[in-house]
Amino acid sequence: MSTVIKGGTVVTADLSYEADVLVEGGKITEIGQNLSGNETLDATGCYIMPGGIDPHVHLEMPFMGTHSADNFESGTRAGLAGGTTMVVDFCLPAPGQSLMEALAIWQQKSGAACADYSYHMAVTWWGEQVFNEMEEVVGRGINTFKHFMAYKGALMVDDDEMFASFQRCSALGAMPLVHAENGDVVATLQQRLLAEGNNGPEAHSYSRPPEVEGEAANRAIMIADMAGVPLYIVHTSCEQAHEAIRRARQKGMRVFGEPLIQHLTLDDSEYAHPDWDHSAQRVMSPPFRNKQHQDSLWAGLQSGSLQVVATDHCAFTAEQKRFGIGDFTKIPNGTGGLEDRMPMLWTHGVRTGRLTMNEFVAVTSTNIAKILNMYPKKGAVMVGADADLVVWDPNRSKTITAKSQQSVIEYNVFEGKEVTGLPRFTLTRGKVSVEESTVKAEPGHGEFVARDSYPAVNKALSKWKEITAPRKVERKAENMPAGV
Ligand code: URP
Ligand code: ZN
Ligand code: ZN
Ligand code: ZN
Repeated sequence: MSTVIKGGTVVTADLSYEADVLVEGGKITEIGQNLSGNETLDATGCYIMPGGIDPHVHLEMPFMGTHSADNFESGTRAGLAGGTTMVVDFCLPAPGQSLMEALAIWQQKSGAACADYSYHMAVTWWGEQVFNEMEEVVGRGINTFKHFMAYKGALMVDDDEMFASFQRCSALGAMPLVHAENGDVVATLQQRLLAEGNNGPEAHSYSRPPEVEGEAANRAIMIADMAGVPLYIVHTSCEQAHEAIRRARQKGMRVFGEPLIQHLTLDDSEYAHPDWDHSAQRVMSPPFRNKQHQDSLWAGLQSGSLQVVATDHCAFTAEQKRFGIGDFTKIPNGTGGLEDRMPMLWTHGVRTGRLTMNEFVAVTSTNIAKILNMYPKKGAVMVGADADLVVWDPNRSKTITAKSQQSVIEYNVFEGKEVTGLPRFTLTRGKVSVEESTVKAEPGHGEFVARDSYPAVNKALSKWKEITAPRKVERKAENMPAGV
């Protein structure tokens, strides 16, 4: 069985050219002119791009006394509908729980995935067991470890734990990720706001000002520098955090920043909405920011100081959000976006001239494939790469509405937004899973993508660290003060 995609323009992170793409056995086997296959997909007027990779999702996540509503099946189906062919979820051990035990739970949950997936492992507590198991986790193809600097009393780790874990990452050739918010300050501000009677969803945003994020981002960067590891900062939402990343990169550090499509296109006026449900449904951490912060994030994508656009897809139903009526600290944090990331970024990035098509491919797919050490299996239109492809129609339009979305929740934070630029076809390892508005995703088709340790950046850093390590100066007896 072979499929040929004909008549389109291949668009990668560095090239655009007219060619047919032949797919056999789930892989790209030929790129060239006048190719033929058993099945033909018409790509006339379309761009053939690497399928999107969303490196930050929480499917069926146990959080704040409940579970996020989209599971691996509905979440990956939503991704495919919007041109995303791979997701990376976070495996979250409960405090004291074995990492391997948590991994087994996540493997169970992801069995019904319709598209390929990988995991980051979270370090939610610290001890000898975690130290030891991290090596086994790396051996299973998970080379990234997430640290929450917020959610005090739940997922949060302290600086000493973070430094120990970062050093362990360095030794194992893995990369730490951080959710950068100062959890102690957030907890104090939450209590003060509640005491003052500020209990609505807008207070969520008041309790997490940009300084909370900038401080934590900077602290994580310095700790990573001391540990000699690269660092990836998830959901970078504001200028303060972006500034810390820029400064570190200018200094030569390998620090990556990941804005979300929500922070790029929605702002904090959402929390002033008169309808409680509307505001609560937009509660996530970090919260939406003002237009100046949005401009900073777009500038980061343009200049390369920010590299990846994700969603942090963590969808809760309206009913789940209502756990927080009367106390904003009990509103489950998280928003959806998996289906909308690519169309929203195309519409507000490429169609406005803020991003080139090639930059679009870089920030939605290729950059993260390289950062996570799975390129060119993923993130490439290249012979031998997985045929995770999107045939992108730049002229197809729709109005985003929860009524027709794949996510199981009953609202959408982008409700009513017009997008132009949608998949005509989405292929997951060669299987056509989306044909215009028809979604034919197959539960269980998705496979785990193992990622080796020691991406190039870690190799370079460990070499440099070895060369510059503190070394004892060996002194001869004659050079020592007499009588010692
Ligand atoms: O509010 C958010 N972002 N929820 C998901 C968990 C996290 O912090 O990424
Ligand atoms: Zn549970
Ligand atoms: Zn987070
Ligand atoms: Zn997250």
